[in-house]
Amino acid sequence: MVRVLVVVTRRIAESALNTLLGRFEVRLYDSDEPPSRCWLESNIGDADGVVCTLSDRFDSELFKKAERLKVLSSMSVGLDHVDLDAATMRGVYVTYTPDVLTDATADLTWALLLGVARRVSEAERFLRGGLWRVAWAPNMFLGSDVYGKTLGIVGMGRIGYAVAKRARGFDMQILYYQRRRLSEDVEKVIGARYVELDELLRRSDFVSIHLPLTEQTRGLINEERLRLMKPTAYLINTSRGAVIDEAALIKALKDGWIRGVALDVYSVEPLSKDNQLLRFENVLLTPHIGSATTETRKRMAELAVDNLTAVLIGRLPLHLANPDVVRIRPLG
Ligand code: DGY
Repeated sequence: MVRVLVVVTRRIAESALNTLLGRFEVRLYDSDEPPSRCWLESNIGDADGVVCTLSDRFDSELFKKAERLKVLSSMSVGLDHVDLDAATMRGVYVTYTPDVLTDATADLTWALLLGVARRVSEAERFLRGGLWRVAWAPNMFLGSDVYGKTLGIVGMGRIGYAVAKRARGFDMQILYYQRRRLSEDVEKVIGARYVELDELLRRSDFVSIHLPLTEQTRGLINEERLRLMKPTAYLINTSRGAVIDEAALIKALKDGWIRGVALDVYSVEPLSKDNQLLRFENVLLTPHIGSATTETRKRMAELAVDNLTAVLIGRLPLHLANPDVVRIRPLG
C-alpha cells in the first residue's frame, strides 16, 4: 500500500486525531503551541496532507518545500495565513472550516459588546483589587444601555448575520455594510438596513467588525473613519485585528473619540506586553478566543479532517478555498 503521510501542526480533538490515525500515517506536533518555522520546513517535505491552524503561516517559500503536498486543511474560517495563489499554482487544495464556529464567535462578540458597555472586566478588577468600599453608589461604574440602541455590523457574512440575529432580542436597530448588499427578503428577515460604511459609523452606538482580512479590508477602519464615530459609541472586533488601524485606534482612545473598545483580535498576535491598548480601562481585551468552546473546537477539528480526507481519497472537499486548483491538479 502507498504510504500517505499527514502532518498535524497542533494537538487537536481526540476524535479527529483518531479518524486520521485510522486512515493515514500521522506526524503530530503534539503541543498547544505552534511549531517553529524550522520544524515546519523540515517536516512537510514528505507530507501528502497537512492540518494546520491560523497561526501557521503558509507562504510561497514554505509551499516550495512541500513537494508532495496535495491538501492543506486549515482549522479556521479565516485564511489570511495562507498564500492561496502559491498553493493553487503548486496544485495544493486549501480547505477551511466555516459554519461550525459561527455561533460561538457571535456569542463571544455579544459577550464583548455587553462586557464593554457594562464595564464588566473593569468592575471585576476593581472588586478583586479590594477597592469596593461603598456598597452602592448612584454613579459607580456607569456604563451604557444596550437595549434599544443602534448596532452597526460591518460584514454581514455568516458571523455578522448571527450577531444580528442575537441583536433582535435586544430590540436594536440594525445597520449593516458590506461590498454586496443582501437581497431585500433577507434584509427583512433579519430586520437590517443597508447603509454605506461612513453612514454606519456616524449612526451606530455599537460597531461590530466581521470582515475577512484581505488587501481591501486591511486598515479599513482608519483614523478618518474612527473620527466619524459618535463619542459615545463602542467598537468591537472579533474578525482580524489588521482590519483596524491599531495606531489610529490608540489615538482615538487617547483623545476620547469613542467611549470604549472590545477586541478579540490584534494586528500582531499574541499581543505584546507593551501594547498601549493594555493601558486603557475602557478597552476589553480577550486573546483570540472567538471559537474557543469545547464543542466548537471539536467540530472544527473534525471538519478539518473530513476536508483533508476528501482530497486524499480523490473527492472534492466540502469547503475548498481555491477552486481553480481543480484545473491544475484534477482529483481522482
Ligand atoms: C478563525 O477560524 O479564523 C477564527 O478566527 C478562529 O477563532
